[in-house]
Amino acid sequence: MSDATLLLAWYDRNRRRLPWRALPGETADPYRVWLSEIMLQQTTVTAVVPYYETFLTRFPTVAALAAADEAEVMRAWAGLGYYARARNLHACARAVGASGGFPSDIEGLRALPGIGPYTAAAIRAIAFDRPAVPVDGNVERVVARLCAITEPLPAAKKAIQDAAGRLGADPAARSRPSDFAQALFDLGATICTPTAPACVLCPWQGDCEARRQGIAAELPRKSPKPARPLRHGAHFFLRDAAGNVLLRRRPPKGLLGGMTELPGTPWRAAPWPEPEAQLAAPMPAAWRRLGQVRHGLTHFELHLDVYAATVPAIRAEGFLCPAAQLAAEALPSVMRKCVRLALAGFP
Ligand code: ADE
Repeated sequence: MSDATLLLAWYDRNRRRLPWRALPGETADPYRVWLSEIMLQQTTVTAVVPYYETFLTRFPTVAALAAADEAEVMRAWAGLGYYARARNLHACARAVGASGGFPSDIEGLRALPGIGPYTAAAIRAIAFDRPAVPVDGNVERVVARLCAITEPLPAAKKAIQDAAGRLGADPAARSRPSDFAQALFDLGATICTPTAPACVLCPWQGDCEARRQGIAAELPRKSPKPARPLRHGAHFFLRDAAGNVLLRRRPPKGLLGGMTELPGTPWRAAPWPEPEAQLAAPMPAAWRRLGQVRHGLTHFELHLDVYAATVPAIRAEGFLCPAAQLAAEALPSVMRKCVRLALAGFP
């Protein structure tokens, strides 16, 4: 039996049930596949599942998503992180709506906002059952081990991609591209795990060169990442006598673009001493420093001092939101932490 046949037979017995996954015999819906793949970029299956279901209820079709306004999409995305994905998602829905449907070829898919080589391959394979091998972190690990690619990542990406392409060229893989791609995901997620892989359960144990050499758990090797720099900021939780909280919208482009936040200072390398931070407050008030929020973003670690005050009436740039409706705002996770700290320290 060929490699792909062994993997597919294993998949037929062990496939995970996932909300975006078509059951055997069902036809995949490109909209659902595309949405799941965008959500799963840099985000775990466990984190995605609840968002995916809520999002689909709100926007059941690509046409519904295209017709929504961007603020509504950002609110549904809030908490998932990497917010450029949500803006691209919306732009992509509009492009697909205008052209009458998702393309199935790699070039057509790559021309759409937010779709890179991985996502194009995933949609082609999973939504259209056409030959393509999407190489995400799970698949990278499986392939690096199967072929004993010992060169560290990211330099090894090309060798891994080429080896994945060779696996996908097996006639058995080409006869079931969608199942083959998802079988690779499932093998990586459940058997060929980052630490302590369950090699004795693996359908490819007899073919795995890293297992033969006794180095499976060490692969893929990774070049050390440069440390993330630290940035500091201060944010202000300002409430009026009626219980409204002052918020503002971040600029549409750039980091956390278009998301809502508590007003605050720029984020910089040097800490903000209390007197300097208070000069940046949205208006003069009896500001109290409640504590600090720590949060990791992609390119830096953030330490934010949180200040709070109540005033009879707010006169400052931004918009007012009743405290009870803060949960429905498009607040990114770091701002949710700030709000939580403010509400806990300042009920
Ligand atoms: N990771 C990325 N895409 C996935 C999918 N479709 N199923 C499971 N895990 C995934």
